[in-house]
Amino acid sequence: MGEGLLADAGLRLGSSGAFALGGVPLEDVAARVGTPVYVYNAEAIRERYRSLAAALASLEHRICYAVKANGNLSVLRVLRDLGAGADIVSGGELDRVLAAGFVPEHIVFSGVGKSTEELGAAVRAGVGLINLESLEELDHLALIAAAARSPVAVGLRVNPDVTTETHPYIATGGGGIKFGIPVDQVPEAARRIGLSPHLVLRCLAMHLGSQLLDPAPFAEGLRRLLRLIHDLGPAAPALSVIDVGGGLGIRYQDEAPLDPSTYAATLIPLLRSTPYRLHVEPGRFLVGSAGILLTRVLYTKHSGGKDFVIVDAAMNDLLRPSHYQAYHEVVEVTPRGRRVQVVDLVGPVCETGDFLALDRAMPGVRPGELLAILGVGAYGFVMASQYNARPRPPEVLVDKGRFALARRRETASDLMQGETPTPLTHEAT
Ligand code: LLP
Repeated sequence: MGEGLLADAGLRLGSSGAFALGGVPLEDVAARVGTPVYVYNAEAIRERYRSLAAALASLEHRICYAVKANGNLSVLRVLRDLGAGADIVSGGELDRVLAAGFVPEHIVFSGVGKSTEELGAAVRAGVGLINLESLEELDHLALIAAAARSPVAVGLRVNPDVTTETHPYIATGGGGIKFGIPVDQVPEAARRIGLSPHLVLRCLAMHLGSQLLDPAPFAEGLRRLLRLIHDLGPAAPALSVIDVGGGLGIRYQDEAPLDPSTYAATLIPLLRSTPYRLHVEPGRFLVGSAGILLTRVLYTKHSGGKDFVIVDAAMNDLLRPSHYQAYHEVVEVTPRGRRVQVVDLVGPVCETGDFLALDRAMPGVRPGELLAILGVGAYGFVMASQYNARPRPPEVLVDKGRFALARRRETASDLMQGETPTPLTHEAT
């Protein structure tokens, strides 16, 4: 395994021969909080944010953290304290970012199906931009915005029809995909916004996909947005922001990540001589490498010619391996140097698709030993479920040798909260 992955997370072998994250021994975290548990390193998040901000420094820009990647309030606080804005996609995320103290003006609300309630809440909160994804949504917001004191600033999320190389579930900028407004409908959208006294067109936006390692599609998409702005001309007099979305890919195995300087070098020449402020919406890049999932080995077994390691984390805790066939590196928290075996690392959930790693070469492990699954700070806990009535795991934030329980483990009563064992109380009408 590359040293890069360990460095990306801030994982270091301590003098005891066991790994520590952000200066906190992982055996201690597991002993105090139990397993499975997500652990995030605040300093690793700060390093990522600062490297991106430095790379983009020559442009007027705002980094709007994509909250969907990890919405824990402690993580949000770290990003808010750095001066980040937020990219949100639901009323629930709006509540979270307001609770974490983000400036409403620095919030961008994206999403293909925002409800009346969600749009109303965003208008009342005074979010900086609502990025629209269809003409019908535009007309709907124009009605809702009539209640606002001043015109509501909107963006048009354009589908630039740019193809990307990534997992098909997370490619979002191509034609025939549900996201964004097709280029040929953008002039009509601008016209309708122009006719509404309650809306003002501030931004053209795109989001091409996630875990992108090649910068070329960003240049292609941005060129298409600039061409559109040119064609709109006087139809978009208040346009001042270009939002290129998220998508910066990180290292999960041995791939070359899309580093901020390459990314910035792609965008800067195209924007340098324009009057527009750049918005970027990274999620994974900021938090993905900063998080690990600690899990304990329950059992090992040999069956059908294969070796299995059964751990206490499962697909309900970390869905990415089974949903996207995603690769996540696994390390022993205390490396023991045993002989390498090829194993399937699986969880207790009753599905054959419940795995964390397949055919993985790793040193032999025994029941009770602790493993760390790397690169799970983004799209880890946020995609966890309670399937099989498994409480969702706790989240811990470590910061320069200190740690805090950022979210407690769910309990059996949390799992049954809001349910009633006697549902037949309403007469059918
Ligand atoms: N902006 C918009 C409008 C988005 O839809 C997304 C992600 C982002 C920004 C942030 O993208 P990022 O920088 O994190 O790549 N659950 C999947 C990823 C889904 C991404 C959805 N949209 C996974 O685990 O790979």
